[in-house]
Amino acid sequence: MAAITGARVRPQQVGEPYRLIEVTPYSASLGAVISGVDLSQELDEEVIAEIRRALVEHLVVFFRGQEMSPEQHLAFGRRFGTLSQHDQVKGMAEYPDIIEVRQEPTDKRNFGGAWHGDVTYLPEPPLGSILYAKEVPPIGGDTLWSNLYVAYESLSDGMRAMLDPLVMMHTPAKIYGLASRDWSKDSSMDSAPSKNAHYETAHPLVRTHPESGRKLVYVSGAFTPRFENMTEEESKPLIDFLMDHVTHEPFTCRWRWEVGDVAFWDNRATLHYALNDYSGHRRIMHRVTINGERPVA
Ligand code: SIN
Repeated sequence: MAAITGARVRPQQVGEPYRLIEVTPYSASLGAVISGVDLSQELDEEVIAEIRRALVEHLVVFFRGQEMSPEQHLAFGRRFGTLSQHDQVKGMAEYPDIIEVRQEPTDKRNFGGAWHGDVTYLPEPPLGSILYAKEVPPIGGDTLWSNLYVAYESLSDGMRAMLDPLVMMHTPAKIYGLASRDWSKDSSMDSAPSKNAHYETAHPLVRTHPESGRKLVYVSGAFTPRFENMTEEESKPLIDFLMDHVTHEPFTCRWRWEVGDVAFWDNRATLHYALNDYSGHRRIMHRVTINGERPVA
């Protein structure tokens, strides 16, 4: 069995040429397609290190035409760290470390249908997720990602100076809590409202990425309703501005899925959004998530 590589990328390695994989940038602001790799195989340490470097450099990397069993999907994920189970969504019965992101033709609401980072309310939010397309609609169901570095870097000096010391409160309550929605209109992904969703975790609003060393704005949609020591009402105007800003089109990319595609995103420096525009069709994805570390300013 392959060991966890866990080898962190150093900032000075970003931008070095790739020797073992082919990396083709996908859009101007983020994303790259990696070819020449079969994810069902036990990949060499050096290949894993290059994939990790491409992830840190491009923030979301795509692999086309993969055929992986759940075991192979899990094994690939484990090369980058330990795997995390979602605190609010049950994993697959046989594979608790895989979430099946399932949308049935009659579902009205979908999982991930708003800009967010995955479970950013955890004290140690994930490093990233690896999403594998099992069944996709004939058209629609794309996923978008946004680049939180360029969002930060494009702000004025004055705005950055104001944001730098702020602390953001993250919570699952708005999405998974008791009063979060009408639970009678469930999607196939819902279990039940959770009493355990009513807590908050403080993270720096501007965090430094542990591998690239770059700063980014760490907001996360409905998981971030207020700043520390401020009410939601007081926080809302600035949070609304930040969410509009970080999801500005030039900072995003959009992937149109085919069965067998895999997207691996850096959850520390991106938000993503799963579009729900394929009513009447089924969409099934398998997601493996890798543990991360406590964000630092
Ligand atoms: C998610 O992880 O938020 C779901 C993404 C997707 O289904 O495209």
